[in-house]
Amino acid sequence: MTMKAPDGNAPGGTAADGPAADGRPLVELADVSKYYGNIRALEGVSLRVHAGEITCVLGDNGAGKSTLIKIISGLHRHDAGSFRIAGRDSRLSNPREALDRGIATVYQDLAVVPLMPVWRNFFLGSEPTLGRGPLRRLDVRKMRATTHTELLRMGIDLRDVDQPIGTLSGGERQSVAIARAIYFGARVLVLDEPTAALGVKQSGVVLKYVAAARDQGLGVVLITHNPHHAHLVGDRFILLKRGIMAGSHARPDITLDELTRQMAGGSELEQLSHELRRDPEDGGPPGTEG
Ligand SMILES: Nc1ncnc2c1ncn2[C@@H]1O[C@H](COP(=O)(O)OP(=O)(O)O)[C@@H](O)[C@H]1O
Ligand SMILES: [Mg+2]
Repeated sequence: MTMKAPDGNAPGGTAADGPAADGRPLVELADVSKYYGNIRALEGVSLRVHAGEITCVLGDNGAGKSTLIKIISGLHRHDAGSFRIAGRDSRLSNPREALDRGIATVYQDLAVVPLMPVWRNFFLGSEPTLGRGPLRRLDVRKMRATTHTELLRMGIDLRDVDQPIGTLSGGERQSVAIARAIYFGARVLVLDEPTAALGVKQSGVVLKYVAAARDQGLGVVLITHNPHHAHLVGDRFILLKRGIMAGSHARPDITLDELTRQMAGGSELEQLSHELRRDPEDGGPPGTEG
């Protein structure tokens, strides 16, 4: 497998911090807390993102997963703890700053224009142009060709980059978003529940591209509430529960069964199973007769 430099041939990549070839994490959160008024969204959360690794953040609804990503992607500021990018203390003011530092976030509800061609969406907001002044026009040929080669590089062979992006499957759209982030120079790729709305097969497609991003040397943060998906690709696992860390494991230290058990809340699930068990005296479940 070939490792291309994380900022490869990307036009927008900033090399200011240099890739963390020295083993330094690309992103490091230590003891981070975030409050919304007096709601504790996160407290004492720590996480490291390394180049060429996938860090999974697992947790149920309300666990604080989105809050965590919003801090990393520059939408929200943390209230306590430290946030380092390539070893430097950082406090991002907006998503643009995060992007400039090489952190790209792919949200579940991808901001695409469904009726526009794939290549148009690939370059949305960063279109290359030809000519100057009144003669300036979009470099359509370059956008088409680049979109095609960049997708191929990820192993995505689209029949036609002119087709409206809305005609792609959910998995393919996620994959285009990943390829786009890589092309525009991301070193850290944050994915918010990329498989949540997808079936088994489509989820597999997306996970394949998540692994491809890792193989290209990116540090990936994968948010999910699916321990199976996490375990398929993850190198590290952070478990959040109501804003606090309920676990942090390296891949060799945890089996899928254990991860599933911790996600499901182990004993809570046993209790539920007990409560749901049908009492043999009752006959059928309510509402089945008459
Ligand atoms: N903008 C906000 N204002 C107030 N409370 C919020 C806000 N965003 C999230 N929360 C609360 O913070 C907690 C964590 O939410 P969130 O990070 O969205 O969790 P998750 O993504 O894991 O479902 C929840 O209790 C949620 O209600
Ligand atoms: Mg969320």
